[in-house]
Amino acid sequence: MCGIVGAVADRNVIPILIEGLRRLEYRGYDSAGVAILNGSGQLSRQRTVGKVRVLQEAIEETPVAGHLGIAHTRWATHGAPSERNAHPHISRDGIAIVHNGIIENHEELREELAGLGYEFTSETDTEVIAHRIHHHKQKLGDLFRAVRATVAELEGAYALAVISEDEPDSIILARAGCPVVIGVGTDGNFVASDVAALLPVTRRFIFLEEGDVAEVRRQSIRILDHEGNTARRPVSESALSADAAEKGEYSHYMLKEIHEQPRAVAQTLDERAVGGKLLEAAFGPLATEVFRRTEAVQIIACGTSFHAGVVAKYFVEQIARLPCWVEIASEYRYRNPVVPRNTLFVTISQSGETADTLAALRMAKQAGYLSSLSICNVPESSLVRESDLVLLTRAGPEIGVASTKAFTTQLTALGMLVVALAKFHGTDAERERGLVQRLIEIPALIEKTLHLDGQIRELATRFADKRHALFLGRGQMHPIAMEGALKLKEISYIHAEAYPAGELKHGPLALVDAEMPVIVVAPNNDLLEKLKSNLQEVRARGGELYVFADPDAGISSSEGVTVITMPKHVSHFQAPAVYTIPLQLLAYHCAILKGTDVDQPRNLAKSVTVE
Ligand code: G6P
Repeated sequence: MCGIVGAVADRNVIPILIEGLRRLEYRGYDSAGVAILNGSGQLSRQRTVGKVRVLQEAIEETPVAGHLGIAHTRWATHGAPSERNAHPHISRDGIAIVHNGIIENHEELREELAGLGYEFTSETDTEVIAHRIHHHKQKLGDLFRAVRATVAELEGAYALAVISEDEPDSIILARAGCPVVIGVGTDGNFVASDVAALLPVTRRFIFLEEGDVAEVRRQSIRILDHEGNTARRPVSESALSADAAEKGEYSHYMLKEIHEQPRAVAQTLDERAVGGKLLEAAFGPLATEVFRRTEAVQIIACGTSFHAGVVAKYFVEQIARLPCWVEIASEYRYRNPVVPRNTLFVTISQSGETADTLAALRMAKQAGYLSSLSICNVPESSLVRESDLVLLTRAGPEIGVASTKAFTTQLTALGMLVVALAKFHGTDAERERGLVQRLIEIPALIEKTLHLDGQIRELATRFADKRHALFLGRGQMHPIAMEGALKLKEISYIHAEAYPAGELKHGPLALVDAEMPVIVVAPNNDLLEKLKSNLQEVRARGGELYVFADPDAGISSSEGVTVITMPKHVSHFQAPAVYTIPLQLLAYHCAILKGTDVDQPRNLAKSVTVE
């Protein structure tokens, strides 16, 4: 989703802005732009539709340099992707603004501004903010006060960065509902939507809180909180290196991230699951007491993270013997839930900034839950800061829009949660040791599964010309089928659906023919025999089956049935993480054959910070 970068420094900031935008590309966008105060102290703006590379070429053709600038990648919400809707937006007298988020009362404000004689050149809600700032600046004099007066009128979510020709040494920054950070440099200061954008220039960051407005100058930073009081926000050092978010030897981030999974899962378990024991303190100092009192679990998430939650539901019930519900955040947030006594509220999110998930957490805090726990990959995120308990997945930066290592580390973290809860609900030390051991074995099993890459690449050639695909699984493997279908549609644009195999005869069987490949995940579990009967139903209708099966599943290749043999001895607790791997690889190879943009699929965003 939209990305913001800004810089005020002793050097020309154009290279910093362009590199920052490049590093934010993964968020998803359709146009890009930059505004800079040039040598003669005037705003110079360039905007282009398409990739950051196109913007860079435009700047190379008409070079511009300066010490103050803001830049943006736009993911269209109000108004189509076009040059005139791209940010920065400019108001009279040289005020420029970039914005991430959605302003809900923009129509009302627009009407009022039109009455005051302001002319609009775009369909965006952002241009309204630019004119509003200009309007207030005329009365209040300085930009900082004008931005504060403007944000007080805005309804919705935003992160804003604003500059003005009148104030050549400052960027004004405001945050409500969308993330933004300040990068503290030596020869200047920087701003961005996330730390990844600024790692080449600094490792020191200040994270704004909700409602903060900041004035970022070359030599100083001033922050006021939502009540207008001076706020002291700590400077933290990022552990990420500038090349943590580079592709390295891989052709795509997604492929790199698929191959990073053994390490990412191992890191997520490091020092938390040791000597056959799980350290529940890893969830935070209050965790032991919370888990002891937990009588039910409500899980909330979006997208791939939701699928991890659905897997966890099966294990929370089977192993910890607690009732567990899972719901998509955008639905949950508009319900009026009845909360059973002592229910733990769990959010799962790679980014920790997904607007619906955050809104659900905020709502849950008023709804009488026992406590809130977030499973998240970004330590500085809003979700982490606003939850009572936290378990960080340690996947490292995930750049490909289609989530891979974030998912398997979430499954691992949720496995730890299941064990932690089970300990307080009847599981003895021996069973705990067994479950912890199963978790520790997952990285090696993923490593073995990655060796199937050649076979899966070959298999993909049979899919690339298909328009639809069906994914089947049963029990805790149904959400894995859902995740496989999501991966395929996200990056190869092949329509894919997932079904619990027992439900086939209630509808999807009508679609099965030779043109509809059916992909099945078949580990050796107690539903295997049922699943095999479901596969017969598909074969009897001429459907082509592709089965990822346990060596002891008793399913072999025959006419219309292609079996890919998975590693041996994958237990039911490990199977969701392990059987996800071939489905990720299948989607990846189909996308390569179709020539789609694997890392930045059309219309999608990595971090969905608007509703
Ligand atoms: C977007 C991403 C998905 C992700 C989902 C939830 O749709 O493209 O990959 O699963 O958001 O994001 P979160 O950061 O909350 O896990």
